[in-house]
This record gives sequence, C-alpha cells and structure tokens, in this order.
Amino acid sequence: MSNPREQWSSKASFILAAAGSAVGLGNIWKFPYIAGENGGAAFLFIYMICIVMIGLPILNIEILLGRATQKNPVGAFKALSGKPFWTYVGALGVLASFTILSFYSVVGGWSIAYTVEALKGFTFETPQVAGEFFDLKNSNPMWVVGYHTLFFLMVLGIILSGVRAGLEKASKYLMPALFAILAILVVQGLMLSGADRGVSFLFDPDWSKINAQTFLLALGHAFFTLSLGMGAMMTYGSYLSEKDDIVNASYLVAFLDTFIAIMAGVAIFTVVFSSGYDPTAGPGLVFHVLPPLLSQLAGGYFFALLFFVLLSIAAVTSAISILEVSVAYLTDELKYSRKKATLTMGALVYFAAIPCALSFNVLSDFTLFGTGFTFFDMADYLASNVLLPLGGFFLAIFAGYVWKVDEVVRNLLIGESQSTYFGNSILKSKSFVAIFSFLVRYISPISIFLVFLYQFGWI
Ligand code: PFF
Repeated sequence: MSNPREQWSSKASFILAAAGSAVGLGNIWKFPYIAGENGGAAFLFIYMICIVMIGLPILNIEILLGRATQKNPVGAFKALSGKPFWTYVGALGVLASFTILSFYSVVGGWSIAYTVEALKGFTFETPQVAGEFFDLKNSNPMWVVGYHTLFFLMVLGIILSGVRAGLEKASKYLMPALFAILAILVVQGLMLSGADRGVSFLFDPDWSKINAQTFLLALGHAFFTLSLGMGAMMTYGSYLSEKDDIVNASYLVAFLDTFIAIMAGVAIFTVVFSSGYDPTAGPGLVFHVLPPLLSQLAGGYFFALLFFVLLSIAAVTSAISILEVSVAYLTDELKYSRKKATLTMGALVYFAAIPCALSFNVLSDFTLFGTGFTFFDMADYLASNVLLPLGGFFLAIFAGYVWKVDEVVRNLLIGESQSTYFGNSILKSKSFVAIFSFLVRYISPISIFLVFLYQFGWI
C-alpha cells in the first residue's frame, strides 16, 4: 500500500523541527522564572537529572513509536497493541494538545502584542508601570482575544501548508533566527555591569529552596520543555523514515533545548540584576520587568524588539507541533484532508482557548472547583502537572512492559548508523540496554507515580 503521508526531507529538518517544538515559551517565559523562584542552580541541577533520567528515554520512545508506526498517537497505540485502553492513552494526547494550546496561544498572542508595542517603542520608567500597562491591556477582552486570534492564524497558516512546505520550512528559517537573536541578547547581557550577579544567580545553587515541590516542578517542566507526554514528538517522529537515526537526534534536541533555556536565563538575569531588580518576579518577569529594563539600555529599542521577536518565534514553532498532533489524528484516522483537519481542529481549539483569554478580564473572578485557579491557570497547571506526566507514565509502561524493552531497542537499532561512541555502537552495548531498561521500567514510572502521590496529598 502506498503511504500518502509526507516525510521530512532530511534528518536535519526533523532535528530543527523537533528543536522548534521543544524550544518555546517553556524555555524563555517559564524556565527563567521557575529557576528564579526555586533556588537557581539548585533547581537547574534537579531539572537536568529529570531531563537525563526520565526525559531522554521517553523522548527516544516517543519518536520511535511515531517512526515505527508512521501514525499519530491514537493510531500508533492502536497499531502496536490493538487494545482499546492504549487507544485512550493516545486520545489523552489529543486532549492535552487542546489544553496546552488554549493557554499557550494566549501567551503567544501577548508575545506578538509586545512585538508591536516594542516597535512603537516602550516608554515605561519602571517594572511597576509596565505591570500596570500589562494589566490594563489585558482588562480589554478584545485586545487579548484579538492577539490570540492573530497568533492562531499564523499557526494555522503554517500547518495548512503541510509537513515540508509548512512545518519544515518554518523551523528551517525561524530556528537559526531564534538562536542568533538569543546569542546577541546573551552577549549584550554579559557586557552589562553587574552581569556576574545574574550569572551566579543562575549557577550558584541555593539548596535551602529545594523541597519535594521542587521535584514536582522540575519533572513537570522537563516534560513540558521537551514536548513530551502528549504525542507531539511521536507525531513529528511519524514523518521520519526508517533510515533516520533517533538516538542521536534525541540527544541533540534535549541538549539544544537545555542550552537555549540556560541562554535565555543568562540573557534575562544579567539585565535584571544589573538594574537591581527582583529576579523572582514570577510569570510577569518577561512582560513586566524586561520591557522597561531592556528599553533603557543603550540600543534598548533594538534589544527590546529583538527579545519579543524571539519570544514570538519560540511560541509559533512550538504551537504548530501542538496542533499538528490533532491534525495528524484527523488525517490518519478519519481520513480528512489536511485542509479540512486543520480548519476543524483549528476552530475547535480556537474556541476552547477563549475562556483562557478571558481569564484576565471578563472571567477573572471565575475560579474552578474551589481551587482559586482561573481557566488560564488551570490549563497551565493541568498540562505540566497532570496530563503530560500522566502521558509519560503510560509511555514508559507501554515501552517497558507491553512493547518490551528488547523490541524497543531492536527498533531503535534500525537507522542507528551514527549512534557510535568511540567507534562502538551505543545501542549494542550491554550496559546501554541495561541502563535504558532500568530507567524505562522502573525509574520513570515510579518517580512519576511518587510525584502524583505527593501532588494529590497522599504522601
Ligand atoms: N516544549 C514547548 C515549550 O517549552 O514551550 C511546549 C510544548 C510543545 C509542550 C509541544 C508540549 C508539546 F507537545
């Protein structure tokens, strides 16, 4: 049977697209403030352990499940297990893609709005004034929904063009641009007086801030930042051919993602510390604190503009991977055309996101189930702390006990030509298989399970 699915034109295209998915608001908007509030380097250390021990094996498995089945998450689980339970696990991914995109596109909309504001030139004297401006703008539903719509239209435009002409081309141009902009911002940050305090804030550990909650945050963020647990990497992997190597690609994507988060931390904290501001300003760090500080530097107009272009690029290349999961589901399973699938899912997710956009104005007093969370807070919380780790838990169980590690490794070996270490195949070494198996069968599911128990107050 001929396969009508499109494929990436090269392995490099896949790596760029997967890095585009991983590097997003999570790296530039979230990571710096989470690290800032949770002990700087101490958090970074725990987060890196989560990335290496849990994120990397699951990243390999997700991409592999996609490549092996050439299908979206629902179709992939159906093809490999045939059991309805696993099909529901795939469907959980589609649900997670709705949840994430509903708050992600609001922040994506803010990024575009702030790019426009930066073009006009920021005139705030202090972060406090900038914060008031942010709140004032957000109190207008038309403003939030309008920019959310603009962001969505960009995402839809890219997805409509298909895998090669849309997803691949967007990441091919946007990812190098993102990297170049970030490099400029890091260099200018490091040249400021007092920059060393920003750097040591990120690299000197404050262990007193570490507690069980930190592990929860670090694990949730590891899933979010690597785009794991909802089938985005699986869907991108399904556009790979059998000859493409997965292990190397996963290392590279995880490395780039972490490196870029650290670069963003350096770019932001050098500016914040050199101006003597509070590094733990929370989610507003990027929208309240940075505009006045950046624009007051020499050449500030340019740096502020670059920063928000950077944030918008990061948001767009990730959002396309989130929506692509649902689009691939409709095209594979219900045989929709790409156009029909994109417009159907696009419309559904667009409307599902409106309550998040209204969480800052019309619905700001409306909190869910006595949690004190608005729709926006709830979507953010559910995604990182529940849906993605839950998806990761099931992926580890599926790979470790249903599909079995031997089969996973046998499949990883297909197209493994470049995964060598001093000339020896990594995957064929007994120790790799033993470690991989231990991480997938025990460490990942048990740690995610413990985190859940803790989160719901059961331990
Ligand atoms: N990795 C993205 C970020 O760090 O912003 C967010 C994300 C993309 C999460 C795709 C999940 C996903 F499937």
